[in-house]
Amino acid sequence: MTRHFLRDDDLSPAEQSAVLELAAAMKADRFAYQPLAGPKSVAVFFDKVSLRTRLSFETGIPELGGNAIVVDTQATHFGRGESLLDAGRVVSRYVSAIVFRTSGDERLAELASDVNVPVVNALTDGFHPCQLLADLQTVRERLGGTQGRILTYVGDGANNMAHSYLLAGATAGMHVRIAGPEGFDPDPEVVARAAEIGASTGGSVQVLRDPREAATGADVLATDAWTSMGMEDDGIDRRTPFWPYQINKELLAAAAPGAIVLHCLPAHRGEEITDEVMDGAQSAVFDQAENRLHAQKALLAWLLAVKEQ
Ligand code: CP
Ligand code: NVA
Repeated sequence: MTRHFLRDDDLSPAEQSAVLELAAAMKADRFAYQPLAGPKSVAVFFDKVSLRTRLSFETGIPELGGNAIVVDTQATHFGRGESLLDAGRVVSRYVSAIVFRTSGDERLAELASDVNVPVVNALTDGFHPCQLLADLQTVRERLGGTQGRILTYVGDGANNMAHSYLLAGATAGMHVRIAGPEGFDPDPEVVARAAEIGASTGGSVQVLRDPREAATGADVLATDAWTSMGMEDDGIDRRTPFWPYQINKELLAAAAPGAIVLHCLPAHRGEEITDEVMDGAQSAVFDQAENRLHAQKALLAWLLAVKEQ
């Protein structure tokens, strides 16, 4: 059966856990897994720029024995008007999986709507689920597990990372707190869905205004850019209201002893996170970036295995 990974809640708690266990095994023995031997090809499309996502897929797919076809969509017909439905139908005749970074979630959904190979969200305006697999792998490594841990995200509560923290964190049994300024709250549909998932996993979700209240006792303190890709010219002030949400040593001091700090990167040092925290002993951001590689390899392997069942 073909399964897609368009949002974090496309994996059940047990499935998310299985992918994360496979990611740990792949990290421990990096070249031992060859599910794409043949080589089978994976198409990786970018409507937006990338460093980590692009390099981790382009490195990881050959490590699985496969062939990575990485394409900037401006160089394709669907980057300038060909129907995404048609593009998905065509590309899926060639490759074993499709990875797509784009803007609107409806673009990803259209590409995936009539294909019989797995389609993976490599970031949309709504979600960044591959990033969350890497984040959860990092939490497991650093804290020994996710169940019952408090995960606090401060900053733009309306962006893709906030939404993915809600869904993936609740799936992992975490207590997810989102704190951002007024006007930057998460989509209520996503909050409701995360609460529903949390009710079944022992996790929970809270949307707060006060960054200190949100950070108090947190096991994981996370943030992201205040201005996401595509929002640079929307006329909204994305600096002034955000300063209280900066992760600095004062905010980190409110977290639990031994808390870790996450940032999906790229960081805007001195804005959402200070140098001192980013380069400090509690920062796990570079392990987090590395884990993109292992987590995405595991995801692809898992999706291909499910398809063959
Ligand atoms: N974190 C992340 O997705 O980084 P890139 O935009 O560089 O891929
Ligand atoms: N929220 C950020 C994440 C970048 C990896 C963006 O969408 O630009």
